Amino acid sequence: MASVLFVCLGNICRSPMAEAILAEQLRQRGLNNDWSVDSAGTSAWHINEAPDPRTIATCKQHKIPIDSRARQVISKDFMRFDHILAMDDSNLDNLRRFKQFAKTHVALLGDYDPDGEREVGDPYYGGDDGFEKIYHHIYRSCEAFLDAEA
Ligand code: 4NP
Repeated sequence: MASVLFVCLGNICRSPMAEAILAEQLRQRGLNNDWSVDSAGTSAWHINEAPDPRTIATCKQHKIPIDSRARQVISKDFMRFDHILAMDDSNLDNLRRFKQFAKTHVALLGDYDPDGEREVGDPYYGGDDGFEKIYHHIYRSCEAFLDAEA
């Protein structure tokens, strides 16, 4: 069983969207039973909350099922997941504070982006179009991640 954890700041916008998109791509590839996918935030601000309504609406528009609750990254995650994929450099800096950081493969999701856009920027304070933009960024990066790692 391979595993990946997506990480952003609040675990209500970007990383739950990435979790939902990758899960859908795994189903399309018939690989969903071979992979475990989860998401978490570096902050504790939104623990137990459902994803942001704009993330839910964007996933619905693209027919991607989404159902998750926010949680915070814990040190055990570095032992449990084969890949930890952060959304931006600030998330990555926060992950570096864990002394277990080097125990697994930690990267930016955008490192896999065929268009070379390294960071999936925080859409929280922007408009709805920001969510559509990150949807496509996350979608193509996740496809490339699976092409490389699955
Ligand atoms: P996320 O977006 O990290 O993609 O979940 C954010 C959600 C909440 C906040 C910032 C970013 N916040 O400031 O509460």
